[in-house]
Amino acid sequence: MQRYKYKYSRFLLNKNYRFSRDYVLKYLPSNLLIESYKSISKWKGYYPTPLLNLDKLNKLLKLNNIFYKDESKRFHLKSFKALGGAYAVEKISKKGDEITVSSATAGNHGKSVAWGARRLKLKCKIFVSQHVSKTRVNEIKKFGAEVIRVKGNYEDSLKKCQILSKKNNWKIIQDVSTKNYKYIPQLTMAGYSILIKEISKQTNKYITHIFLQAGVGGLAAGLVAGVAKYFKRIPKIIIVEPDRADCVFQSIKNKKLKKIKIKRESIMGGMSCNEMSLVPWQILKKTTNCCVSVSDKNIAKTIANLKDKKFSKTSIIGGECATPGIIALIGMCNNRKIRKLINLNHNSNVLLIGCEGNADVKLYKQLLSKGRK
Ligand SMILES: Cc1ncc(COP(=O)(O)O)c(C=O)c1O
Repeated sequence: MQRYKYKYSRFLLNKNYRFSRDYVLKYLPSNLLIESYKSISKWKGYYPTPLLNLDKLNKLLKLNNIFYKDESKRFHLKSFKALGGAYAVEKISKKGDEITVSSATAGNHGKSVAWGARRLKLKCKIFVSQHVSKTRVNEIKKFGAEVIRVKGNYEDSLKKCQILSKKNNWKIIQDVSTKNYKYIPQLTMAGYSILIKEISKQTNKYITHIFLQAGVGGLAAGLVAGVAKYFKRIPKIIIVEPDRADCVFQSIKNKKLKKIKIKRESIMGGMSCNEMSLVPWQILKKTTNCCVSVSDKNIAKTIANLKDKKFSKTSIIGGECATPGIIALIGMCNNRKIRKLINLNHNSNVLLIGCEGNADVKLYKQLLSKGRK
């Protein structure tokens, strides 16, 4: 590949790969997937987000198709997270309840919980660390939630959320599952699976490769469950992470849940996570074909290329977390050995997840102008 000299940072084949639909749907049951679609597809303003084609990039990479699911158009929240937190809020609250919901967030999940609470006229408390931008905080406040800033990182904000929620009897709507906290994160993942249900109706091409961004792994696991339920053929599943926050990569490499140390946060804030969520680990440890990590280096350039129609005939608004799948795909195509190893060729129908638009407007503008230089 001549035009884009992108490289990935690290690549790992999963030696424990063994895809089984039954196994996946044991951890994210089929009835949860069906129910989430039934509910969310009735919400006001619901429509399937566009499945675009990165046809110009496809020509350069000599594949068959590169599909791009454009979540910048998901309700008016500009990310797939609209499907998760808001849905969990709806499921756990009964009509007429006067509960208060709470959550800790890097941005998009909290916005979804706040929006879900607003839809049902519930009170909402959102906890954020010092790394969450003012723009993201203001977006959450727009939905009437109280935002509580906590010194430290995401984990510190979660701890504070847990302590105050217990004390005040608030209902925690978290997207991260642990040994004793599974149902609500499962609901959020079930919500995400709608992307795959939509895609299964938007194209009759069999997807051969799917690139899934991961933070704690909820998006990836939700979509893998969607694949198990709705796709006729199972594509190769490629997990993409920031190289500074590669907790899925390290867990798969070490064959056990691995907590990592983040020395410097990635610009891909939503994916800057140091430990996987438990249910996603159970699903992804057997269904991931390979893991790829990417640096922050080409993010701005990729945002500009999406916007300036370098990859497709249409202009696309993709935020920082929407770019690593594209960077990983180009990086892998640039490496002849890897390209061959995972069968990226003229028959490949690749699916990329454009998981967010300009959810952080200020950061988006900065990155766009940097990428155009
Ligand atoms: C835009 C965006 N993309 C990807 C992710 C990663 O999702 P997960 O943490 O479920 O793996 C997040 C998480 O916040 C996000 O906000």
